Amino acid sequence: MVRSFDATSVDPRWLDDACATALWAPTAGNSAGVRMHTIGADLVTAYFERATDARWRRESPRAPGLSRAGAVVLVTSRPQDYLARYAEPDKASSGLAARSAWPVPYWHTDAAMATMALLLLLDEAGWSSTLWGNFRHDRAVLEWIGAPDESLFASVLIGRPDGQDHRSASLDRVVPTRDSRVRRLEVSPERTP
Ligand SMILES: Cc1cc2nc3c(=O)[nH]c(=O)nc-3n(C[C@H](O)[C@H](O)[C@H](O)COP(=O)(O)O)c2cc1C
Repeated sequence: MVRSFDATSVDPRWLDDACATALWAPTAGNSAGVRMHTIGADLVTAYFERATDARWRRESPRAPGLSRAGAVVLVTSRPQDYLARYAEPDKASSGLAARSAWPVPYWHTDAAMATMALLLLLDEAGWSSTLWGNFRHDRAVLEWIGAPDESLFASVLIGRPDGQDHRSASLDRVVPTRDSRVRRLEVSPERTP
């Protein structure tokens, strides 16, 4: 993740194509309920006015660097598409026609899959980015982009690094190693059905 950019713009047409490519990511039941809303450099300031509050823009040491992003992609999903899809005859036995029935809401899963694909495509093309989670202001952002009935999954801020990044405190956390997070199941006779 890079959180300070140098204001280089991302070509809007290239970005739209990259998003369409990212949407080849798996989608549950072929529901195709993820949308990517691309915001060019000229609208990044307007985006931050909706996505943040005035105090954050004034006081956060990251605000200036993030505001120099060359584009933003808002990844949204449409839960209603998944409820409708899983109510169709070939999926009805799943019992997932009601939103409360989903142990794993696949609209978030699909949004994450497509987002990861986009992050990889951006990296491959030499762009840096950061994933901004959604935990406030999502209603205002969704109204602004004209998608009030969608769920905002995350924003991907894209640009060229300017070397003035404020290191994330998250990186100083002591976490289990990646190797230790891979667990190989040892097959034992007791586990064999
Ligand atoms: C679901 C999710 C939400 C995140 N939200 C934020 C965020 O709001 N702001 C931010 O600066 N980084 C955010 N990140 C980035 C993480 O902080 C980052 O991936 C993590 O600290 C590991 O750093 P690295 O990706 O640079 O290795 C988010 C990542 C994920 C997967």
